[in-house]
Amino acid sequence: MAEPTTPAATVDAPPVRAEDFEGAARAILPKGIYDYFAGGAEDEAAVAGNRAAFARWRFRYRVLTGASEPDLGLELFGRRLAMPIQLAPAATQKMAHPEGELAAARAATATGVVYCLSTLSTTSMETVATAEGVRWFQLYVFKDRGITTDMVDRAEAAGYQAIVLTVDTPILGRRERDFRNAFGLPAGFQYENLVGPLARAGPADVGQSALAEYFSFQLDHALTFADLEWLAGHTPLPVLVKGVVRPDDARRSLSAGARGVIVSNHGGRQLDYAIATLDALPAVVDEVGAEAPVLLDGGVRRGTDVLKALALGARSVMIGRPYLWALAVGGTDGVRRLLQMFREEIAVSMSLLGAGRLDELTPDLLAGP
Ligand code: FNR
Ligand code: LAC
Repeated sequence: MAEPTTPAATVDAPPVRAEDFEGAARAILPKGIYDYFAGGAEDEAAVAGNRAAFARWRFRYRVLTGASEPDLGLELFGRRLAMPIQLAPAATQKMAHPEGELAAARAATATGVVYCLSTLSTTSMETVATAEGVRWFQLYVFKDRGITTDMVDRAEAAGYQAIVLTVDTPILGRRERDFRNAFGLPAGFQYENLVGPLARAGPADVGQSALAEYFSFQLDHALTFADLEWLAGHTPLPVLVKGVVRPDDARRSLSAGARGVIVSNHGGRQLDYAIATLDALPAVVDEVGAEAPVLLDGGVRRGTDVLKALALGARSVMIGRPYLWALAVGGTDGVRRLLQMFREEIAVSMSLLGAGRLDELTPDLLAGP
């Protein structure tokens, strides 16, 4: 089936859909930064695949249900959330906007959604905590375990409510745009959760990515389920495992102490030709969905994408690049506008689907590929 196309946004017109922010951001950002945010691994087939998977599903909507004013709310790990969208962990947000992670976290708080902070943020986790909303901390495990446990303990002390362990990044995927741009952290930026040599990536040699080198030198390449068990035993916070696409890995994650899984291929930035996350979702839900929340990210750009993921059993979804673009364009206000767009699209599509609540989103509402 051909992918549907919509007219390209222009820089001058105000954004009316999530993807409109990208064109506007591209016009503002330096090329190396735009390419780092937008890019994926190698052929970028996994990036395109995540989007294409959503387009293959159609709705078999219900009529005359009397559903009006749909309720978008949900509860996750004991917290009420306004809608089933969260801001995914994404590194170095001050490269998008001077207020970086704090601006994005404020928008999440104002909207009532989760902000998940990356280990590699350009704002410290304590500063982001001043945004006061529901916050999760994404963990990369350093070769130096002391640094890792320190970050987990700091996150707990700063009121983060879950740890998201990213497991699809033993080394960085080969991102050719970054090689071409000799991508590294621009002068003046630091990883603010870290100190000394760990706070910097770069500069890069011609044809290299300083971020790839950082991952090679500093991060643990050989994590196993035993390390997950160690982490789950170390912290009282719920641990979610991000980057799972297989039911057996989801099962082993729960057995090792995880309290949730995030079906993700890192937005197509790691293993190229990774299965599209929407295609991976149903088997993972079948295996563990009755016991723990299954989340999904990768290519979510429309309210209808969110509804498809939920109908296939996801509890909530995360968005990555869309909010980086909105942040670049308008800081907190830009991200709020983006989240408002998602809210409106979800609400209208739920009404048209005949669903009044998120738990009414069931697989029979979809016509499969
Ligand atoms: C990411 N992602 C990511 N994931 C993670 O666990 N830790 C991180 O630091 C980052 N950093 C990061 C930077 C940038 C620029 C991007 C685009 C992505 C992956 C992210 O959490 C998420 O899985 C994807 O972005 C989801 O796909 P979409 O919504 O961008 O298509
Ligand atoms: C990325 C890393 C930092 O995707 O997670 O760029």
